[in-house]
Amino acid sequence: MKVPLVDLRASYLPIREALLAEFDEILMGMELFLGPNVRAFEEEFAAHCEAAHGVGVSSGTDALYAALHACGIGPGDEVIAPSLTYFATIEAIIRTGATPILVDVESENLTVDVDEVRAAVTPATRAIVPVHLYGHPADMDPILEIARDRGIRVIEDAAQAHGARYKGKRCGSLGDVGCFSFYFTKNLGAFGEAGFVTTSDPELAARVRRLRDHGRDSKHVHSVAGHNLRLDELQAAVLRLKLRRLEHGNERRRTVAALYRRFFAGQAVRLLKPRPDCEPVHHLFPLRLRQRDALTSYLAERGVDTGIHYKIPAHLQPALRTHPHRTGNLKVTEEACAQLLSIPIYPELHDDQIAHVAEQVLGFFADTGAGGERP
Ligand SMILES: Cc1ncc(COP(=O)(O)O)c(C=O)c1O
Repeated sequence: MKVPLVDLRASYLPIREALLAEFDEILMGMELFLGPNVRAFEEEFAAHCEAAHGVGVSSGTDALYAALHACGIGPGDEVIAPSLTYFATIEAIIRTGATPILVDVESENLTVDVDEVRAAVTPATRAIVPVHLYGHPADMDPILEIARDRGIRVIEDAAQAHGARYKGKRCGSLGDVGCFSFYFTKNLGAFGEAGFVTTSDPELAARVRRLRDHGRDSKHVHSVAGHNLRLDELQAAVLRLKLRRLEHGNERRRTVAALYRRFFAGQAVRLLKPRPDCEPVHHLFPLRLRQRDALTSYLAERGVDTGIHYKIPAHLQPALRTHPHRTGNLKVTEEACAQLLSIPIYPELHDDQIAHVAEQVLGFFADTGAGGERP
């Protein structure tokens, strides 16, 4: 049996007919950027995030950059973020000219360690970027507490957390700004590049809106020098159709995660431990084990694709050698990067595929006598 890590065609088939009709309408009208689909999607996704304002942009990286820039962050400022993230989080900080301060994550669910954030604050700190990694919310309340009264902005990297909840509230509605990616493998994915910024602050929303379209206030007036970070109509049409299926998809991901957990109960596989105050959306399902490479080959031979998220933490990336940054002892991050292995999780995964993946993982432990780092 073949089990791919993601199955993008399976996410296209249910919307195929409706999408082709939408594409035809858009292409016949030729209003290609910031048109009716973008406007409607901005309202629909902001409402889904329970945020007052939403601005569609060209990618998750651009969402982070625009959010930081709109918050006035630039050279001389420090921005605290976890080192265990997709490198784009850190790239966006670097692009503003600010200095990334890379901190460790907590050992059970691998979101940013609040004590490490607190210890990293200096008078130059202007923002904290918690990442809701793998679809599991970071512990936001203490982070918001650290930021309060210090003029520090909290910018959520919710690129992997569409629909996740923290203490009942949606990711993207918790900090000053929320940033989403619609990269095509995400829980809500376009069929091209796209991203989104949420906020409850109308002034920040207006700044992001201006920045994404050449700093324009109206057709001929550029009040600031901005960028081209626009969301296009075709991607907005894809996203509108897929948004209607997001909740159902997230529910199915929860079921898949629960099935894996049942298969692995009592076995020597270390899994992430969700906090009880969160509703994660299982963008990824990482295992943690010392014998990662051996398991990768074992599964590949049996038709199961896997991925590593992430192999090299941000603070060890060659790109940072030439950029000013600060980092402490990131023991949990470095250990996790040596052990993480993502197995397939997506709504379209069939029960027999789930069972096949789990049986092969268990087969590996039985055949090799290997164990997770901790049962
Ligand atoms: C945590 C995280 N941040 C930022 C990004 C960047 O998003 P994009 O690829 O849409 O630029 C991604 C996804 O790729 C991500 O997973």
